[in-house]
Amino acid sequence: MRILGIESSCDETAAAVVQDGRQVLSNVIATSLEEHKLYGGVVPEIASRRHAESISGVVRQALADANCDMSGIDAIAVTYAPGLIGALLVGVNFAKGLSMATNTPLVPVHHLRGHIAANYLTHQDLKPPFLCLVASGGHSHIVAVEDYTTYKVLGKTRDDAAGEALDKAGRTLGLPYPGGISIDKIAPTGDENAFAFPHPRLDTSYDFSFSGLKTAVINTVHRMEQKGETLPVADLAASFQKGVTDCLVEKLEKAATDYGYTSIALAGGVSANSRLRRETDRLCRQKGWQLHLPALKYCGDNGAMVGAQGYYEYVSGVRAQPDLNAYATMPIDRPTF
Ligand code: KG4
Ligand code: ZN
Repeated sequence: MRILGIESSCDETAAAVVQDGRQVLSNVIATSLEEHKLYGGVVPEIASRRHAESISGVVRQALADANCDMSGIDAIAVTYAPGLIGALLVGVNFAKGLSMATNTPLVPVHHLRGHIAANYLTHQDLKPPFLCLVASGGHSHIVAVEDYTTYKVLGKTRDDAAGEALDKAGRTLGLPYPGGISIDKIAPTGDENAFAFPHPRLDTSYDFSFSGLKTAVINTVHRMEQKGETLPVADLAASFQKGVTDCLVEKLEKAATDYGYTSIALAGGVSANSRLRRETDRLCRQKGWQLHLPALKYCGDNGAMVGAQGYYEYVSGVRAQPDLNAYATMPIDRPTF
């Protein structure tokens, strides 16, 4: 079964053709990132306008790369939540029009479910149940993936998402947007033990908190700037990255231990982070757990992950009606549409 996956929740306009939820036949991504860099963050209206300009061409290219036209597509899967509302609406409305014009079933896909499904593209043998740390620009969750369409959220951030905190810290350090990528690049040249940023203690839960860590780096930078000191940017970046990734790995370990999971996965943009990948790998080796890391090309937003999850949603009977809307927020475990 071939699914056309469409993604437009943030600044990537993406489409892909995926066979049976596992095999990527094409994967096309257009991004407006360079424009957002000028402003130090994603400007929603610019993102929406670029989606409107790009989406027809991106979908056409995805079909061409897969050597098929709409007659070879069994269903259209589209990200409908969560994300930037104006951005999501472009993909949703395009998918609805295409679905109606070609009489192809339409399947709504939750963005974070898509991120998790990126692992199915990388690890052909991966099947639920497994425990997944989902860390992106907008979300940080520990999710028990009980089945392909059944999830339980065990923990989540109480304030900033991990990617958001990294992006804000990157901006404070004067690094290019997105800060997460910039920090990952510069961190290996710094000393991660140079600064001991506070480690939030939410001992009894699997929740995260990154705002204290973020405030600490901002205060440290301001203090040094006031004293006229040169910022040790690489040391600050490395120490901050250590703080964020240690929090993520600690809670992942706690949840996996308490719930008895031995199959572990990472997902979302932050799962591209080299320290997070290394430390999770170290943890899983030490515990004898099986770790699944999404291929780097599937960590960020893409259409293939939507096509993969769309397949499992389709098989479980999920269909969108012509009045499908987009939603800025939506729980992963009990989505409505
Ligand atoms: O999943 P994603 O592409 O978009 C959302 O759904 O939010 O995640 C984007 C986030 C950004 O905050 C970005 O800084 C972060 O992922 N990110 C990284 C890395 N690559 C992307 N953070 C740390 N290290 C990276 N290598
Ligand atoms: Zn994402």
